[in-house]
Amino acid sequence: MAELARTDLTPLIGSQVHLEKAALLSGDHAPEIRALLVERGAIVVRDVHLSGDELRNLARTLGDLRLGTAKRGSDGKTLTEGDEGVMRITLDPEKNPEYARFLFGNELWHMDGTYSEGTPPFATMLAPVALSQRGGDTLFANTYAAFEALPEAEQRELEQLEVVHSLPAALFPGKRDVSAEEYAVWASYPRNAHPLVWQHKSGRKSLVIGTQCSHVVGMHRTESHDLLHDLMRHATQDRFVYRHKWRLGDVAIWDNTGTIHRAMPYEENSEREMLRATLNGEEPVTGVGQRAAATA
Ligand code: OGA
Ligand code: MN
Repeated sequence: MAELARTDLTPLIGSQVHLEKAALLSGDHAPEIRALLVERGAIVVRDVHLSGDELRNLARTLGDLRLGTAKRGSDGKTLTEGDEGVMRITLDPEKNPEYARFLFGNELWHMDGTYSEGTPPFATMLAPVALSQRGGDTLFANTYAAFEALPEAEQRELEQLEVVHSLPAALFPGKRDVSAEEYAVWASYPRNAHPLVWQHKSGRKSLVIGTQCSHVVGMHRTESHDLLHDLMRHATQDRFVYRHKWRLGDVAIWDNTGTIHRAMPYEENSEREMLRATLNGEEPVTGVGQRAAATA
């Protein structure tokens, strides 16, 4: 594979790839982009000004574009992508009637799709249509690096644990005065348990964490709360984080299986709007024990 021209944005996460729009969209560099995405967690290409169609085409060169219409999926519950695989990420309900009311949750650290899917999305891509006046940077944290930095004894303990992910856990900390009705809607979505440590097919291990983590299975709630909070503070230290300051024309792509991300708060009535495309997951979250059993 030919090396991509790139600039690393921090030591542990984030690279800017230097490609012209035509070269990016050609698909000729797709294998290198995918490899770099997994190696660097998040990549950014600037000055490419992608339309929705172009974002969709780029996504298709990189993986399996998640489709759907802006309504609940065929099981009645799964969150699906917007029309033809591109969703408008905005807090304005007129622009995204179905999901705008959930999207304040993007301001808390999370992985996409872990509460609804056994196989969470491989990657997510954002391209801005309009920026906020204040705030609105997007942060990415490398959960491979965060795991690798833990003492070995702690790694072995964490590898034994399973965590329940849920929409109420993802959203409740982000909103004041949640009504019973609203909470009931969140609680009607499926929840999912995942190993806390994912041993990927590649052999590398990452933490599967985020605000959407409700509790550690079988652990006392207080202890579980402390453990998850300690891990979040560990994983979101500056040394594991790349903070992207958006410019119109950018596209950012992140490996949703080895990073967590969040938006910095922005005005509720903001113009900020991103086009998002999501690539379906390619391997289920697999614990260290499950991986060993599968390869035995
Ligand atoms: C998302 C998301 C962050 C942002 O679309 O999944 O988390 O900065 N977006 O809008
Ligand atoms: Mn997200």
